[in-house]
Amino acid sequence: MNAESALPLRAVLTGTGSYLPEKTLTNDDLSKMVETSDEWIYPRTGIRSRRIAAEGESVSDMAAAAGRRALEAAGVQPEEIDLLIVATVTPDAPMPATACYVQPKLGVVNATCFDIAAACSGFIYALDLARQFVRTGAKKKVLVIGAEKMSSIIDWTDRTTCILFGDGAGAVVVEARESESGILATETGSDGNLAPLLYIEAGGSNLPNTPETLLEHRQFLKMEGHTIFKHAVRHMANISLKAIADAGLTPEQIDWIVPHQANLRIMQAVSKFLNAPQEKTVSTIEFTGNTTAASIPIALDIAVRDGRIKPGQTVLFVAFGAGLTWGATVLRM
Ligand code: UT7
Repeated sequence: MNAESALPLRAVLTGTGSYLPEKTLTNDDLSKMVETSDEWIYPRTGIRSRRIAAEGESVSDMAAAAGRRALEAAGVQPEEIDLLIVATVTPDAPMPATACYVQPKLGVVNATCFDIAAACSGFIYALDLARQFVRTGAKKKVLVIGAEKMSSIIDWTDRTTCILFGDGAGAVVVEARESESGILATETGSDGNLAPLLYIEAGGSNLPNTPETLLEHRQFLKMEGHTIFKHAVRHMANISLKAIADAGLTPEQIDWIVPHQANLRIMQAVSKFLNAPQEKTVSTIEFTGNTTAASIPIALDIAVRDGRIKPGQTVLFVAFGAGLTWGATVLRM
């Protein structure tokens, strides 16, 4: 708090950006690959199509494209960024961090770079870290990127999962400002006991891939969709209420809900729980599918650029994913 301005030091989102690869994979395309149909997928998920990265297009390429747009929107030069956090579960490689691959692509030469893996909650976890760094004064300008190439960890023969996911990236610039705007509250949680509900079994240090694991498709994402659905609704609803209360607001005072885009029915259930009209929810799932850590910043950027989300409005981010992990952020734009 500064005595002259009497405004709190907040983590303010000063720019947003996103990137979706060109290639579109429709439900009809999928029906030629596995036994499924638009009639099955759309009513259950709200998804009609998703974007798929081009051959050779990496997560760091997509992250850099989104990051560049966020820097431009914020009017921040790459050299001014002192921290870059990439949230992803599909890193370019196990080592080094994808953020280190993004750094030269963006020219953020003065940034400390690292990744965070919290699956679909990754963006909220990363944004919370950025907030802590700027509130303590340790960093001034942070670039937070959620980026995923889910197409690389999907079993394209498993109709229960391959219909759900897509590729893409979204980014925000977070700056320390004495302001009425910015992040008002964040709440997060995890339950590692339930990790086996949504996970990848092989390919890590515990079970390196062998010809057998590859043959058995154990290098790909597995999910108990029905159980995950129930946990998602419960945790997203509860953590939203907690974050809204922490911000000193009521659900009625939230102008926009930007939820993780996993399933339209989950998003509708959360908004119903908060007693919010469906029009307050930003939904991109119809044409993006579930882009994991990228889904919230992509939806945010789209709604900021098309003029729906305006300066001064209150926004709720809420996510749930593998881990299990969950989190919610309340901010004033
Ligand atoms: O971002 C991380 C969080 N992820 C999520 O939140 C995803 C949450 N889960 C979901 O969105 C839903 O559970 C799904 C959309 C994945 C599945 O919907 P569901 O209503 O839970 O279906 P189900 O898994 O219970 O499957 C019902 C039936 C099964 O057939 P039987 O056993 O009843 O004969 C499935 O084999 O539908 C069948 N099925 C399909 N049929 C056509 C499953 N996937 C497909 C498909 N096309 N793609």
